[in-house]
Amino acid sequence: MIRDIQDEILRLKKEKDVCILAHSYQAREITEIADFTGDSYALSVKAATVPHRNVLMCGVRFMAETVKILSPEKRVYLANAIAGCPMAEQMDRDMIAAVKEQYPEYTVVAYINTTAELKTICDVCVTSSSAVKIVKKMKGDKILFIPDCNLGRFVAEKVPEKQFKLLQGGCPIHARVRQQDVIKAREQHPDALLLVHPECQPEVFEQADYVGSTSGIMEYAKNASANEFIIGTEISIAEHLQYDCPQKKFYPLTKELICPNMKATTLVDVLSALRGNSGEEITMDEQTRMAAKKCIDEMIRLGG
Ligand code: 13P
Ligand code: SF4
Repeated sequence: MIRDIQDEILRLKKEKDVCILAHSYQAREITEIADFTGDSYALSVKAATVPHRNVLMCGVRFMAETVKILSPEKRVYLANAIAGCPMAEQMDRDMIAAVKEQYPEYTVVAYINTTAELKTICDVCVTSSSAVKIVKKMKGDKILFIPDCNLGRFVAEKVPEKQFKLLQGGCPIHARVRQQDVIKAREQHPDALLLVHPECQPEVFEQADYVGSTSGIMEYAKNASANEFIIGTEISIAEHLQYDCPQKKFYPLTKELICPNMKATTLVDVLSALRGNSGEEITMDEQTRMAAKKCIDEMIRLGG
């Protein structure tokens, strides 16, 4: 049954010249039919270069918006229209415009998990895998980091020579994890390395053996000589790793690390979107696109 749906998807995407991009959190049956799977940074870089006329994003809305910003000539679709990232909706343009007035000498660094509209008034975007590198390289040394204060704290610790202003935003899923969860997981799996996403709170990431993006965590676990890992990010990453490395053992840091938005997209949604029956085409006025593009271009320039 799954194989039949996948075969139909492969046939349709070829016929309709569609590139399917999938975030690393997507289910295995989706990553299997995707042209490319990766973290937010890798997806952004890929989006700028794929030759297809159409792109179908299996991930969340800001990821599809990023593709549209970089490739306006393509028709870009979000496979399931309800898949948004709650963090991306936490701060809007007016709110940040007001904060900027208070701190005019600060460079605004926006996590890519923001709306296209908010990006229009930011200076540079970052992703979890590129944030430290970009903040180190960029000119300004006073940084207003939005919206994720946990990622902001992580970057601030790695770049102590710069001054940071953080606001109260972040991922509601990763922020649930507490130090107590780390203590419990370490007790249960004393030989395992702890790998976490920087959207977790400092009390969690400061205990980790490795902190990185979804792709960074996967790469680290695959290449490490260790055999057991506690995975502190969305539960799908532990599942993918267990599938890819059956000889190693992967334990989710907590079973609550489930992002319903990333789980919203199903294989049937992908088929239905390719048939034109669901999904949503991303549209954007040219002024917004051009203004948002500046900070994504800057991210790719400094992150490369
Ligand atoms: P990555 O930068 O690892 O892709 O993370 C995106 C995200 O939404 C994590 O919750
Ligand atoms: Fe957004 Fe958090 Fe879900 Fe990532 S895990 S898409 S940051 S809500």
